[in-house]
Amino acid sequence: MSYFFDSKNTEQMPKGRVEGIAKVTGKAKYSAEYDIPDVTYGVMVGSTIASGRILKMQIEEAMKAPGVIDILSHENKPYVSGFSGMKEMPDNRFGLPIFYTDKVYYNDQPIAMVVAETIEDAMFAASLVKAEYEEAIPETDFAKKAKEVSLKETENDRGSVGAWENAPYKVDQEYTIATEVHNPMEMHATIAQWKPNDKLVLYDKNQGVNRVQSVISSLFDIPTDNIHVISEFVGGGFGSGLRVWPHTIAAVMAAQQVKRPVKVMLTRPQMFTMVGYRPESWQRVKLGADKDGKFLGVIHQAKNISSKIQGFSDGITRVTRKIYGFKNVKTEEAIVDLNVPMPTWNRGPGDTTGCFGVESAIDELCHELKLDPVDVRLKNIAPYEMETGLPWSTNYLNECLEKGAELIGWKNRNPVPGSQKEGDYKIGYGVAVGMWGSGRSYTGASIDMQKDGVITVRTAMTDIGTGTGTGMQNVAHTVTGIPKSKIKIELGNSDFPKAPSQGGSRGMASVSSAVYAASLALKRKVAGYAWPDKDANTLNIDDISLSDKGITYKDSFLPYADIFGKNNLNDIKVEEFAGPGEERKKYGFCSSAAHFYKVKVHEKTGKIKMDRMVIVADAGRIINPKAAANQVIGAGAGGIGMGLLEEQLIDFKTGRLIGNDLAGYHFAVNADVPLIEVSFIGKPDPNINPSGAKGLGEVGIIGAAPAIANAVFNATGKRVRDIPITVERFF
Ligand code: MOS
Repeated sequence: MSYFFDSKNTEQMPKGRVEGIAKVTGKAKYSAEYDIPDVTYGVMVGSTIASGRILKMQIEEAMKAPGVIDILSHENKPYVSGFSGMKEMPDNRFGLPIFYTDKVYYNDQPIAMVVAETIEDAMFAASLVKAEYEEAIPETDFAKKAKEVSLKETENDRGSVGAWENAPYKVDQEYTIATEVHNPMEMHATIAQWKPNDKLVLYDKNQGVNRVQSVISSLFDIPTDNIHVISEFVGGGFGSGLRVWPHTIAAVMAAQQVKRPVKVMLTRPQMFTMVGYRPESWQRVKLGADKDGKFLGVIHQAKNISSKIQGFSDGITRVTRKIYGFKNVKTEEAIVDLNVPMPTWNRGPGDTTGCFGVESAIDELCHELKLDPVDVRLKNIAPYEMETGLPWSTNYLNECLEKGAELIGWKNRNPVPGSQKEGDYKIGYGVAVGMWGSGRSYTGASIDMQKDGVITVRTAMTDIGTGTGTGMQNVAHTVTGIPKSKIKIELGNSDFPKAPSQGGSRGMASVSSAVYAASLALKRKVAGYAWPDKDANTLNIDDISLSDKGITYKDSFLPYADIFGKNNLNDIKVEEFAGPGEERKKYGFCSSAAHFYKVKVHEKTGKIKMDRMVIVADAGRIINPKAAANQVIGAGAGGIGMGLLEEQLIDFKTGRLIGNDLAGYHFAVNADVPLIEVSFIGKPDPNINPSGAKGLGEVGIIGAAPAIANAVFNATGKRVRDIPITVERFF
């Protein structure tokens, strides 16, 4: 029996998001929106230099300002056990030891936080806080310093380097990508409230409540159970919510210091410096092939920007070891530490960057050999997971390529660059692919049934806008039989069963299994109450079904009212956990996608317009086609940003960011985005988990930027190896 998506079952057909009405009516509360009695407001103050030391904080003026309660800094802070006794960082788990150092590592590093009665008072006072510094000359120029930093082996090489050196056809090119900033719509925010007996409540924007719990627990030396983290609604993340940032720690410290709740919400410019970004990168790809385009060897080198506080490697060459059947691979990486804010994971971290290099190089090779880029990719599909030698559980990258080629009309493309025109535009077609390891993690879910048959499904996992809750409702409905109108979903709360952070395309693959297990457990438990004479554990689970009215087992039916009545029950509760198992030792797991794009390039202005975007993804079973397509559309829009628009610039002299707001930093907006045509292969992966769903989010963007650059080459004959492809780089 198939429990999952069935097009004949209209109850299963895609509807809106479970949280849709709450979000569009303003009923959904984001972290900064909770009304907490007696709350105070914290505003972060950033350093005005990029390197050096604070000699003295100058807070006298600010302290006299109206409404000010206290000003935290390294000169005035509560005891934090995790920071005390910590010597000079470099490799601590917490990033910046906020208020526990007088050192300045980057411009706009938080050096103080004003706590005041109102947000206006706090902002005004924050503008008066100054510091006396001992200034050093900052290192801020990635391109310059990258040249001085040596590469290190990643220790995952296979085969021989000679395979590349002796290949009859070779590409050897360098590629760069600018820093990109996540900038979800919702600002990062925390409300910290201490309660008696060392208990702490945090309303916090993040992608994983249990992670926040454990970081705060070890920093402040209080048990995780004492910390209640609530992130019921999250207005986007893209990776910025995967770690705990200084403003959250500052809120907890301030609440301890002033003995009142403290609310901190970052400003938009602070979103550029205080919650990470995709690090600027350099890559060199050496790709060798025979005359038929069969890859013989690859050498992939990469460097990414990192901060002075904590090393961050983006893992740029990881994808190269996975994506094709390369027998000979050498990968080398390095981080380049500068006086810049801390980078972190962003939108398909590492692989999105690495694929720009590799997928561009393949296009260059195909052009040189006059081979079709789709054929060459099909010829080089990895026959098994090359790094482990394990057979693929499922890998339908070939079908993604074939279907995408069909949908965009690839066979009509003229491979000669600059040969196709529509009006004032040159047009071009490009292809690139992406792959991402399909993970899953140990995850819990509970179901609580009330007398009226309404069930509430809960997990600690957050839904950052990806449709997790909606997918959970699909699973609970298809497994139990209870109509969706009677299934409530609650997420993002550390009081609910433990779950991993939502990120790395693991959400649905993880939580669907827990909801599946809890749904089965609920059926058995209700059956046990309904027919105490039968052993519920031995009944065939497929013979049991629940509806809005009651339970059916073969020909017997019992209404919920009777079951609850005769057993004297208020509710029926189950909680189940599910995680990866032996299958991980037997198979390799991957999700993949093919991106087929058509661009138009204005002949006179060089304006590049995305004309068509076809994205075909293999993410196993698609639990909710509408939410899944939404996710890929969002990722594709992110791909346009990466390929054409997004670029965080820095003033090398001061280390300050340039254009650090939504006017100065350009995202793809609706006018930049064509109708993105999304298709799924949709074949369940039989081994990954009971739902057959593999991860999806990342592959919507991995491969997007090179598909754009390759299409621009086809349109114009100009190969752009440095993205975004802004007019000045290109025309
Ligand atoms: Mo992400 S970078 O999968 O939040």
